[in-house]
Amino acid sequence: MPQHEMILAGSASEHLGRAVSELLGVPVVGKELRRFPDGEMQVEVIDQVRGSDVFILQATSPPVEAHTMELLLMADACRRGGARRLVAVIPYLGYARQDRRTGCKSLGGRVAADLITTGRFERLMLVDVHTPAIEGFFSTPIEHLTAVPILANAVSHRLGQHSIVVAPDFGAVKLARAYARLLGLPIAFVQKTRLDGEAVATHGVVGDVRGRAPLIVDDMLSTGGTLAAAVEALRAAGALAPVGVAVTHALLVGSAREVLQSLGLSFIATTDTVPIQPPEPSIAVASVAPIIATAIRRTSRDESLLDSPAAKSRTHGE
Ligand code: R5P
Repeated sequence: MPQHEMILAGSASEHLGRAVSELLGVPVVGKELRRFPDGEMQVEVIDQVRGSDVFILQATSPPVEAHTMELLLMADACRRGGARRLVAVIPYLGYARQDRRTGCKSLGGRVAADLITTGRFERLMLVDVHTPAIEGFFSTPIEHLTAVPILANAVSHRLGQHSIVVAPDFGAVKLARAYARLLGLPIAFVQKTRLDGEAVATHGVVGDVRGRAPLIVDDMLSTGGTLAAAVEALRAAGALAPVGVAVTHALLVGSAREVLQSLGLSFIATTDTVPIQPPEPSIAVASVAPIIATAIRRTSRDESLLDSPAAKSRTHGE
């Protein structure tokens, strides 16, 4: 790979920046992030980026607003430093769940998209974004990457012929189909209604889960409320216990760790799109660095991502 590519990692994704840099043999741009006494941030790019294509890695995970601002400041510093083109690799996109307006409420997904667009990135790379339809909020072209193949691979040895892939809500059915296809398993889904940021209600399970060992799959786990409700609905529907879980983004906010403990899960697998801090020994973490590295390599060679296992359009294509 020619050396005119560089990686710049924000504070939410420094681990991925290092891993991707090693995989590609591409340098990480040195930077300093300073805070003024009033809390404002300033980014300084230490290395020469003039004429380079800079791939900026930054999950807009909690604290979402700070990580988003840092992403935009990094882009600005690179542009002012003469970078040729900028690509934002956003392993987890915050605000993506706010994709529909109800009543007089704000539409956070659209506002976040507008903000990121001000970074004037040539492309964005997103991993298992909450809904691929979010692309409609952006004028910037998007590459949809998926961690489903690496997670399916990570959990396959824990599954048997009586396993079943379960989507904890209707929105996760496409993702569940992608897992089911790779694992050769049937699928079912839980009918869920979200009551507020933490509480959800379920209304039964669609599909026959009796005597089957569920693998619940989802794009993300935040408070654990969705997972807890799905486990309860599956027990009520006659599924075997315990339950296995695969989620791309483990935010683990609020009392999520206690919720996970209380569910007596057989295993839980996730990725490092959002680092788990402090680490949770009961959660197996597979890195998305290889899929990001592949996507960066192909993009810099002007190759299509469509025949790559990392490309969501293939694994999730219907
Ligand atoms: C919802 O549509 C998402 O796919 C997840 O199921 C949900 O956001 C997880 O959040 P929590 O763990 O707080 O229920």
